[in-house]
Amino acid sequence: MPDLVVAGNWKMNTTVAEAATLAAGVVDGAAAIPGVALVLCPPFVSLAAVSDAVKGSAVKVGAQNMHFQDSGAFTGEVSPGMLQGLCDYVILGHSERRQMFAETDESVNSKVKAAQAAGLKPILCVGETLEEREGEKASDVISGQVRAGLEGISDTSGLIVAYEPIWAIGTGQAATPETAAEVMGGVILETLRSLFAAAADDISLLYGGSMNAANAGDYAAQDCIHGGLVGGAGLQAESFLQVAAAVAAAKA
Ligand code: PGA
Repeated sequence: MPDLVVAGNWKMNTTVAEAATLAAGVVDGAAAIPGVALVLCPPFVSLAAVSDAVKGSAVKVGAQNMHFQDSGAFTGEVSPGMLQGLCDYVILGHSERRQMFAETDESVNSKVKAAQAAGLKPILCVGETLEEREGEKASDVISGQVRAGLEGISDTSGLIVAYEPIWAIGTGQAATPETAAEVMGGVILETLRSLFAAAADDISLLYGGSMNAANAGDYAAQDCIHGGLVGGAGLQAESFLQVAAAVAAAKA
């Protein structure tokens, strides 16, 4: 089975002090949940504090984005090399980045390649809008995002794919576990198999979109779902740990 992963996407929340406190709270409960990689993704400015806070524990750190170039005149951007030593994971192609910051499949693909080259584990996010779902275009959109995001990639070690239907993010309208499994075990896994053959079955697939302590176990009960990418529920140590515990219990 692929690695179980529960990642908290803190988005543009938490000051440095709040981030350190939240990370410490997660560290306190992490030892009780073996078998699930817990990944905290704070804003860039808190990566160092969170990385300090998790030292000596099994809790891992991720960034929420990065540029694909090594350095240069890219005001406001952060390069892969700058993240080395601060985190092990990086969320790439989150729908908020695609929708509000004009990220394209091409730039996301460049980022996935740059992350791997820098030894960072990419969490590639894909997902359809409500309009695309209602227009029965979801499968094509999602398989297209997977294919384009992973074009030219041959090494799948460390690669994680997160399915986040845009209509489910931050809305409380989570996709049903059946819908998520249909997309993840169907469209996403089949696309990954067509790209990577048997190695596809070792890639962790995360669900994201209004995942919480109450529904996390239902997702993880699906064979093709190996954890979650959690937004709102990741902003409290207790609820984040509850999500992870529910994933662990469902897979036990
Ligand atoms: P949410 O966000 O859990 O608040 O819906 C998930 C995400 O955007 O990664």
